Amino acid sequence: MALERTLSIIKPDATRRNLTGAINDRFEKAGLRIVAQKRIQLTRAQAEAFYGVHKERPFFGGLCDFMTSGPVVVQVLEGEGAVAKNREVMGATDPAKADAGTIRKDFAENIEANSVHGSDSAENAAIEIAFFFAQTEIVG
Ligand code: PPS
Repeated sequence: MALERTLSIIKPDATRRNLTGAINDRFEKAGLRIVAQKRIQLTRAQAEAFYGVHKERPFFGGLCDFMTSGPVVVQVLEGEGAVAKNREVMGATDPAKADAGTIRKDFAENIEANSVHGSDSAENAAIEIAFFFAQTEIVG
C-alpha cells in the first residue's frame, strides 16, 4: 500500500476535555505519523467553507456552531493507506455505532461532538490539507 496523507481535526469537545495527547497516542500506535499540527480557533467563515458540501443538511448550522465553539487541532497524518487507517482508528460517525476500541467509541460525546474528523478519500484529503496547511508546514 502506498504512503498517503490525510487531514485530521481534533474537535472542540476533545480539546475542551484535554484529550489531544490521548487521541494522538491512538494515531501513533496505529502507525500514523503526525507530520503537521496546529491548534487554531476556526472562524465561522472557515467552518462554513470547510463543511460547505453539507450546507443543505439539517445539521449544518449546528455543526458550524459546534466547530467554532472552542479550539481545534488540525493535523496531517501520514502512513501506509493513511485515509482508511485513520477512519478505522476513528470509528463510525455516531459513537453509539462505533466499534470497541475506536476513538469515537471511547471519547466522543454524541454524533455532533464526535471528537475527530478524518478525510474520506485521498482526493478530499489533498483538498482538506491545502485548506489548512502550506506545503512548508508539512514535514514528513
Ligand atoms: S455523510 O452523509 O456520509 O457525508 O455524513 P457523515 O460523513 O457521516 O457526516 C458528515 C459530517 O457531519 C457530521 N454530522 C452531524 N453533525 C451534527 N448532527 C448530526 N446529526 C450529524 N450527522 C453527521 C459528522 O460528524 C461529520 O463531521 P466530520 O467533521 O466530517 O466528521
